[in-house]
Amino acid sequence: MATPSTPRPRTSTRDPEQLRARLTDWIDGWLPGATATGLTVPQSNGMSSETVLFDLLHADGRVQPCVLRLAADPDAYTVFPRYDMARQYRCMELVAAHTKAPVPRLLRLETDPAVLGAPGFLMERVDGRVPPDVMPYTYGGNWLHEASDAERAELERASVAILAELHTAPVAEAAFLRSSAAGETPLRQHVNEQRAYYAWVAAGHPASPLIERAFARLEQLWPADEGETVLSWGDARIGNVIYQGFTPAAVLDWEMAALGPRELDLGWFVFLHRFFQDLTVAFGQPGLPEFLDRQRVVAQYAQASGHTPQDLGFYTLYAALRHAVVMLRIGYRQIHFGEALVPADPDKLIMHRDTLEAMVEGRYWN
Ligand SMILES: Nc1ncnc2c1ncn2[C@@H]1O[C@H](COP(=O)(O)OP(=O)(O)O)[C@@H](O)[C@H]1O
Ligand SMILES: [Mg+2]
Repeated sequence: MATPSTPRPRTSTRDPEQLRARLTDWIDGWLPGATATGLTVPQSNGMSSETVLFDLLHADGRVQPCVLRLAADPDAYTVFPRYDMARQYRCMELVAAHTKAPVPRLLRLETDPAVLGAPGFLMERVDGRVPPDVMPYTYGGNWLHEASDAERAELERASVAILAELHTAPVAEAAFLRSSAAGETPLRQHVNEQRAYYAWVAAGHPASPLIERAFARLEQLWPADEGETVLSWGDARIGNVIYQGFTPAAVLDWEMAALGPRELDLGWFVFLHRFFQDLTVAFGQPGLPEFLDRQRVVAQYAQASGHTPQDLGFYTLYAALRHAVVMLRIGYRQIHFGEALVPADPDKLIMHRDTLEAMVEGRYWN
């Protein structure tokens, strides 16, 4: 998960020297003689799980660039209530084993929090570039914004094709992703989980009238046919893809993975672009209005997968609603750390409030 365009709130800080020592001990346990060098925490780090870059120096002198993902520090007022690193690891393993979607090569899972200070996993570092969240790629001055329309069209087509490819992963192998929430269908369970997440975020605070209206509106738009259940990537957006040129080289960030309809990822994919685009327009810039157009993305997905997506009005609203809950949590987190004041109206914490309101009222998509 990322924090678009807010001043970057603090991440939990773990002592890098201590981490380096722990990492070296850990590696020595399964790769005797190897050491960790050049430990860095990247600038574009999100606020949930922590990402640490380093080089694995093998006993024979070979250097292997690596990325360590660690579960967020529970004392740091985390964005999500849980960080299940084993679940993410297994998800990436499954995608790597059964699809052609590119995921970073996995090296090791560590579930014991005592070893590295938190559960985590190690993967290979993939070369390339990621569309930035801060400042969003819709603003000028980044590689994607500077690219030609044809290059962006190619990136769009290839990224949608990756979504279709991910959705071919065998659900029978993904029982570990099954939700424990109540509900007759995977979608109902998914939404019930989001209601529970909202209740967790809002506990001890006034309710958000807008989020509650959005949940009510979802019920009115509920799909008549929920379609097939697939492995849903979760945080499905171009900001979680490493590109080489304009071609996807790695699909990252599996902490929101779940089982559910194909359209969960499509709705999120389209909405997260609109989120950045609408913010950019609100700041008086044109952004990239032609990019990741909803109808074109749907058509491209249909072509790539053979399944025509349905009910995108429901799924884009659901994405905007879920993102609003995350925004609320991030707002309360800033308040918790004394970085912001409590607004009288909690909906002020939702950066895309106007978009969500327009979606709830059915006047967003024209
Ligand atoms: N395997 C990898 N290879 C190269 N860079 C990576 C890799 N995994 C993560 N990164 C870098 O770390 C950033 C954050 O990773 P991501 O998985 O999206 O987590 P989050 O958004 O939760 O911080 C990515 O945008 C990318 O720059
Ligand atoms: Mg990410």
